[in-house]
Order: sequence, then C-alpha cells, then structure tokens
Amino acid sequence: MFALIAVIGKNRELGKDNQLIFEIPEDMRYFREKTMGHKVVMGRKTWESLPGKLDGRENIVVSRGGVSGADKVVRGLGDFLRENADTEEEILVIGGGMVYAEALPYARRLYLTEVDKEMPEADAYFPEFDSEQYNREIVGEGAEGDLSYKFVKYNKKEV
Ligand SMILES: NC(=O)c1ccc[n+]([C@@H]2O[C@H](COP(=O)([O-])OP(=O)(O)OC[C@H]3O[C@@H](n4cnc5c(N)ncnc54)[C@H](OP(=O)(O)O)[C@@H]3O)[C@@H](O)[C@H]2O)c1
Repeated sequence: MFALIAVIGKNRELGKDNQLIFEIPEDMRYFREKTMGHKVVMGRKTWESLPGKLDGRENIVVSRGGVSGADKVVRGLGDFLRENADTEEEILVIGGGMVYAEALPYARRLYLTEVDKEMPEADAYFPEFDSEQYNREIVGEGAEGDLSYKFVKYNKKEV
C-alpha cells in the first residue's frame, strides 16, 4: 500500500526552486521515523534536491530519463502504482508535487505535517484532495520559531 508523506503550508505549498520550503528539525525526525526501513518513491527532481541517498531505505526514483545512484529507477509510474497498490508493506511516496499528484488516487494514507503559514513564493504544491474521503487524526504538534505545525494522519475511508 502507498502512503504519501509531506510537509505543507496553508495552501499546500511544498517547495521553491527545487528546495523544501519548510525545514523543521522535528519534522525531519518524524520523516525519518516514518520512512526508515521502507521503500521510498520520489520524482527525479526531488532526488536531485537531496544531498544523497536516504540511508536505511530503498530509494526508488521515477524518471523517463537517466538517474544515477538510486537503488531503482521506475520509468512507468502508473504501472508501478497499480502493481504495488495492494502490498502489505507501506511504501512511502516522498514527493514532489508531480509524483504526489499521480500517486494520490492510490494512497491509503497521508502523513501531512501541516504548517500554519502561507508561502506565496512556492512553485511546487501538494495536490488538492477531498478531506471527506479520509479520517483525519492529529498525532502531534509543535512550533519552531514563528512556525507552528501539526502532524496529521489521514486514513482513507473504506468504500
Ligand atoms: N514539502 C515536502 O514534503 C516536499 C517533499 C518532496 C519534494 N518537495 C519539493 O517539491 C519540489 C519538486 O517537485 P516537482 O513536482 O517539481 O518534481 P518531482 O515530482 O520531484 O519530480 C518530477 C520528475 O519526476 C519524473 N516523473 C514524474 N512523473 C512521472 C511519470 N509518470 N513517469 C516517469 N517519470 C515521471 C520526471 O522526471 P524526468 O524529467 O527525469 O523524466 C519529472 O520531471 C521541490 O521544490 C522539492 O523540494 C517538497
């Protein structure tokens, strides 16, 4: 099964100039804890934004071109999503905007760190989603400087 994990602003802002828009140490720890030991799937641009491979996780990169250093490269994201939608293991989709948008219909869970701030300069966004389709649970909260945030888990309702 797929879960999407992201830190987003009030308008679902994700990033700018291929960098994260929010860098919150507590959120980074949360991300590490949720993803450790799992497969992580990311778009080529997000891969290029990282300083290197995420340790302890199988790094799967989606690209129609060439990518070096990844554990696996997926050229057909649609096929990958369909083939792995019902696995028992939780596969974490870690961004960015393009890949979240394609993976959202397949995701049974969203781990969103919701930051209470607008970032109009953003150029990458988490896709819009219908919160009515999910059970929303706040699992934690915190503050960092002028940023306050909530760790929110959305579990898709069974249809
Ligand atoms: N806030 C957060 O939690 C968070 C998390 C992750 C990323 N981000 C931010 O998001 C931004 C990057 O997002 P983005 O939307 O620009 O890029 P992205 O989703 O990371 O990567 C896009 C690339 O993925 C590949 N791709 C996408 N769909 C594909 C498909 N169906 N089949 C094959 N390849 C496919 C393509 O690579 P090729 O061009 O090589 O074919 C495409 O150019 C950055 O600012 C980053 O910092 C934020």
